[in-house]
Amino acid sequence: MKLTYLGHASLQIQTNDKFLIVDPFISANELAKNIDIDSLKADYLLLTHGHADHVADVEQIVKNTGAKIISNFEVINWFAAKNIEGHPMNHGGKWEFDFGTLKMVNAIHSSSMPDGSYGGNPAGFVVWNDEISFYIAGDTALTQDMKLIPLTTPKLDFCVLPIGDNFTMGYEEAIIASDFVKCDTVIAYHYDTFGYIVVDKELVKKEFEERGKKIIFLEIGESIEF
Ligand code: NI
Ligand code: MN
Repeated sequence: MKLTYLGHASLQIQTNDKFLIVDPFISANELAKNIDIDSLKADYLLLTHGHADHVADVEQIVKNTGAKIISNFEVINWFAAKNIEGHPMNHGGKWEFDFGTLKMVNAIHSSSMPDGSYGGNPAGFVVWNDEISFYIAGDTALTQDMKLIPLTTPKLDFCVLPIGDNFTMGYEEAIIASDFVKCDTVIAYHYDTFGYIVVDKELVKKEFEERGKKIIFLEIGESIEF
C-alpha cells in the first residue's frame, strides 16, 4: 500500500487497487499549493468529522472522481442533501468495503458542518485487509478508548496521529497514544497549517526516538510505501 501526504490532515491511500482520500483540505491550504486537486484519484473519501479543515474539498473531488464518502451518519446526511452519495457509520461499527474492512472508532473532539449545522460525533478509522492494518486517529485528544483498538482489530502496521496540540493532542500525548494502540510507527499530521499548531519537528523526532519509536514527517506531496 502507498500513502501520500496531502497536507494538514489530508491523506491519499492506495490499497487493494483502490484510492482512498482522507479529510480533503487542499485548495484552501497555502502549504499544499503544489497539490493539483483535479488530478487526484479517489474511489472513497473518508471523513473523520465535519469541520471545514477536513471536508473543504469534498464536493470538488466527488465531482471529479465520483468517489463515495464514508463518515458518520450526520455528515453523510449533510452531503446527501447536496446529492453526494455516502456510506453512513457510527462508533464501534465496521463494514467490509472492496478495499478492506473499516472500523469507526472514538475520537474526543467536536464536529459541526461548515454551515454550523450538527456534524455528529468525530471519529477515527482503523482499516485492514490482506496487506496492511492502520489507524487514522482523526482530530482527537488522548483517550483511554485507544486501548480498545489492539483488542478489537488486527495488529497495526502504522498509525496516523495528530501532533499539533491546541485543537488536538500534542506530540507528548501522541507518544502515549502509540503505546495505547501498540504501534511504534507513527505518521504525524494536523501540524504546522495554522499558527496555533506549529511544531518543532526535530524536538518531536528526538522525543519519539528516545522512547524507541519512529515518527515520520512527510513533505506535502511525498509518499511512503508499506
Ligand atoms: Ni476538527
Ligand atoms: Mn482539524
